[in-house]
Amino acid sequence: MFRKLRKPRILVTSGPTREPIDPVRYLGNRSSGKMGHALAAAARRWGRVVLVSGPVGLKPPRGVRLVRVETAGEMARAVFREARRADIIFQCAAVADYKPVRPAAHKIKKSGRSIVLRLIPTVDILARLGRTKRTIQTLVGFAAETRALERHALKKLRDKKLDWIVANPVGRADSGLESDFNRAILLGRDGTRKILARTTKMRLARQLLRIVVNAARR
Ligand code: PMT
Repeated sequence: MFRKLRKPRILVTSGPTREPIDPVRYLGNRSSGKMGHALAAAARRWGRVVLVSGPVGLKPPRGVRLVRVETAGEMARAVFREARRADIIFQCAAVADYKPVRPAAHKIKKSGRSIVLRLIPTVDILARLGRTKRTIQTLVGFAAETRALERHALKKLRDKKLDWIVANPVGRADSGLESDFNRAILLGRDGTRKILARTTKMRLARQLLRIVVNAARR
């Protein structure tokens, strides 16, 4: 059991996913992987770390086992496999909610007319982890929101059966997506609410880990 372990196994996900439209185009998002990679690097102090990362232009942190993925489906398979052995999971990746129904086999040619891209939902990795999690496992989600930050984050905390959610304002220039800085409100299933002021992603990662790992040890 984790409580008796000096070194918990920590699984972190990071970066965006890419959902292919055709062999040269994809649906993606602006996640740089900086927050997830900072968490993985900082988590080494606390335990054994696995990082499942979408495509990012960052050097992987040293001492961390890296699993590279591209699509939401690949991320889901990697996370479900690694989650079986994880004590604490930080689902920081910006996973696509939708993907093209069927990617075209060849490059779509320009015709001058409008085209319709039909999308279907991807698997909600975090929601499934919440449904299947072991009682001793700690599940931390992130909520990237441009408005009603806490309301939306609390809904995700409840709906996805999480222990913690990091409510993360995005859509501002001085922090969040792509920035070296971030700010958040950490909300716990037990009613804990902590405001984490704007700071570097590495410092924020250290603050999050201290709170989450110490709570998991109790
Ligand atoms: O990568 P950076 O540029 O450093 O930016 C960091 C970040 C802003 C991307 C990061 O801090 C963050 O907020 N990540 C979560 C982004 C997100 O997808 O939020 P969401 O509110 O759409 O999803 C809620 C939670 O469900 C997230 O933990 C997400 O990983 C998870 N999810 C979402 C969809 C899906 N199909 N499966 C999931 O597991």
